[in-house]
Amino acid sequence: MSTNHPYITIKSRVANSSRAHTQPQVRRTDSIASKKGKVYLVGSGPGDPDLLTLKAYKLLQRAEVVLHDSLVSQEILSLVNNSALLVDVGKRASHHSKHQSEINDLLVDHGSSNRCVVRLKGGDPFVYGRGGEELQALVAANIAFEVVPGITAASGCASYAGIPLTHRDYSQTVMFITAQCKNSEENLNWPSIARQNQTLVVYMGLLKNEVLAERLIKYGRAPDTAVAVIENGTTNSQRVITGTLRTLSDLVEKHRVISPALIIVGEVVSLASTLDWFTDNKLIEHTNNSDIFYELEEAV
Ligand SMILES: C[S@@+](CC[C@H](N)C(=O)[O-])C[C@H]1O[C@@H](n2cnc3c(N)ncnc32)[C@H](O)[C@@H]1O
Repeated sequence: MSTNHPYITIKSRVANSSRAHTQPQVRRTDSIASKKGKVYLVGSGPGDPDLLTLKAYKLLQRAEVVLHDSLVSQEILSLVNNSALLVDVGKRASHHSKHQSEINDLLVDHGSSNRCVVRLKGGDPFVYGRGGEELQALVAANIAFEVVPGITAASGCASYAGIPLTHRDYSQTVMFITAQCKNSEENLNWPSIARQNQTLVVYMGLLKNEVLAERLIKYGRAPDTAVAVIENGTTNSQRVITGTLRTLSDLVEKHRVISPALIIVGEVVSLASTLDWFTDNKLIEHTNNSDIFYELEEAV
């Protein structure tokens, strides 16, 4: 690979950067500022900066304002050009730093300013990212926009855990669900969610893991169906813990799994023991045997 390839540039900038992102920076006035303003809704992928698209990288290089979520890592933020204004609009499950309406207002304010504005989100903006709601606010304010997709957590985490989301022998369909939704879980279509030969990927499912396992078993999934919990997927602190639906809540509790974490349910999870490839990440197989658990805990 030649040394002027953009990939190489990304690597060296990450390694050298120690830039703090919380303080607004003085804005540079140059040719970019003279271009007509637009808001770019950009997905930053699940964590590993090398999973950014080239289009996302180029936009971070020319952005004048970047409004980002808390899930976007420092490594990725260090790729933003030094003169851009960085605004953290992040929110986490119970402690929102900004309400969605405030974020929409900020987007409209910056989008009206004739600047190149990047709205940077974890994963893909259209997968549990409220990207649609933000674009609707821009449409209402007559502000131009583009969408740059990112690798969603399901795809990134599964790949880095060695879990193919589909496999001809095990799973023909994949379903993404979230445990954090406006409607109660009572209203979800559980018979369809619990279908056999289907891989289920659960976003934001940690806090509701017990009800999830209970419903899936009640609606037909076998209690010994394989389950993986992937914490901080695709990053250097990734942990992949496997178990079964029956042991899911035990697994989350005993391994003290923290957010962000993704739950994958389905027979394909069993392939992780042979397809796990991500350097330095040992698959943790959770069993109910407490002696084995202590050995594994020491290895974490
Ligand atoms: C608000 S949703 C955003 C999803 C994002 N738009 C996407 O496409 O991946 C946040 C949830 O995504 C999942 N997630 C995102 N990044 C993750 C990662 N690196 N490892 C594990 N789960 C992740 C977790 O379930 C987390 O609670």
